[in-house]
Amino acid sequence: MASLGQIIFYTMIILIVIFAAFIILILALAFSGVGGRVQSTNTSPIGNLSDDVLLSCYLNTNHQRAVNDISVTWKKANLAGLVYKYENGAPDLTDQNSQFKGRTLLFLDKLMTGNASLLLKGVRNSDRGEYTCSISCSEGAGKVNIYLRTAGASPPATERCENGKISQMHA
Ligand SMILES: *[C@@H]1O[C@H](CO)[C@@H](O)[C@H](O)[C@H]1NC(C)=O
Repeated sequence: MASLGQIIFYTMIILIVIFAAFIILILALAFSGVGGRVQSTNTSPIGNLSDDVLLSCYLNTNHQRAVNDISVTWKKANLAGLVYKYENGAPDLTDQNSQFKGRTLLFLDKLMTGNASLLLKGVRNSDRGEYTCSISCSEGAGKVNIYLRTAGASPPATERCENGKISQMHA
């Protein structure tokens, strides 16, 4: 037969285990947020020069949120300023780097479902590099990196210019 001492001892052990499990659960909830849920269908897209390219970035939750409950920032590594920013229900392009002026488009109708993909128009060689898409909303924040490569370099000058005339560009 268990003594009173043993009963107290085992009760304490059980309480400590339950308490520890509870703490772990709280910590897991606090750190999960939306962190791992910002995703991209293609983290290494290839943009053809002078074409448009879609940089995919979305929040993998399918609930509709309010217009003010999502902010998106697109940045490019080693570049001053921003590529694109959407905050408080409107685009904010005051810090946009001049390289991207008039060349970026977010699908605002899709944003409320968490789709923050960026359309970059008229791809240039200088667009090559790493982009970071950050999404934050009331559930938390997360980011994904996308590495854009460019393809279809324009032919060298000797091919384009023969006998002083511009020859036809290759398709
Ligand atoms: C996000 O929107 C773009 C533009 O309409 C679309 O091409 C893309 O498939 C969408 N991505 C997701 C994950 O829904």
